[in-house]
Amino acid sequence: MNIILIGMMGSGKSAIGRLIADKLGMEFVDTDSVIEKCENAAISAIFDVKGESYFRDIEKKTIREITQKDGRIIATGGGAPCFDENWDSFRKNGLVVWLRAKPDVLYARISNAPAGTRPLLKGNLFTLERITDMLGKRETFYGRAHFIIETDGLTENETAEKILCFAAKRKI
Ligand code: S3P
Repeated sequence: MNIILIGMMGSGKSAIGRLIADKLGMEFVDTDSVIEKCENAAISAIFDVKGESYFRDIEKKTIREITQKDGRIIATGGGAPCFDENWDSFRKNGLVVWLRAKPDVLYARISNAPAGTRPLLKGNLFTLERITDMLGKRETFYGRAHFIIETDGLTENETAEKILCFAAKRKI
C-alpha cells in the first residue's frame, strides 16, 4: 500500500511526507522532483518553455509509473488531484491523505519559500485572493481523499503523527 499526500501548494506534502517515510521506513517519492529529474529542468522552466498542458501530461505519466510500486509515501503536486486519470492511479494501491489548510495559512507558508519556484503563483499571481480562488475550485477534488487532516495550527510533527495513527489503523 502507498500513502499519497495531496493538497494545495504550501500544505506541507513534501516535508511531512519525508517525516512519515522516515518513521515508517518507507521510500519517499516527490512527483515534482521525479519530473524535474526526468525533464532535466525545474518545474517553473517546464511551465515557461513547454506550457502547463505538457506538464500535466508528464505528471499523469509519472504518477501512473510511481504508483505501480507498493510501500511508498508519495507527495504529489497541488494540481494532480484535479484529473480523474490521477485518481485511477492513486486508488490502485493507495490511501489518499489531504493536508488541508486555510488560504491565509497557505499564503504565509508560501511567502517563506523561495520566490518563483511555483509557476502558478509567480510574481503578481501570488495573492491571497488567487489562493482562495484556486482552493475553492479544487476542494471537491481534494475532498475525495480517504483521510482529511486540518493542518492549521499543527506542527509538521503533529500532522505526521496523525497520518501515522491513520496508517496504523489501516495496518500499513
Ligand atoms: C502545482 C503545484 C506544484 C507543481 C506545479 C503545479 C499546482 O507543486 O506541481 O507548480 O497546480 O498546484 P506543489 O504543490 O508541491 O507546490
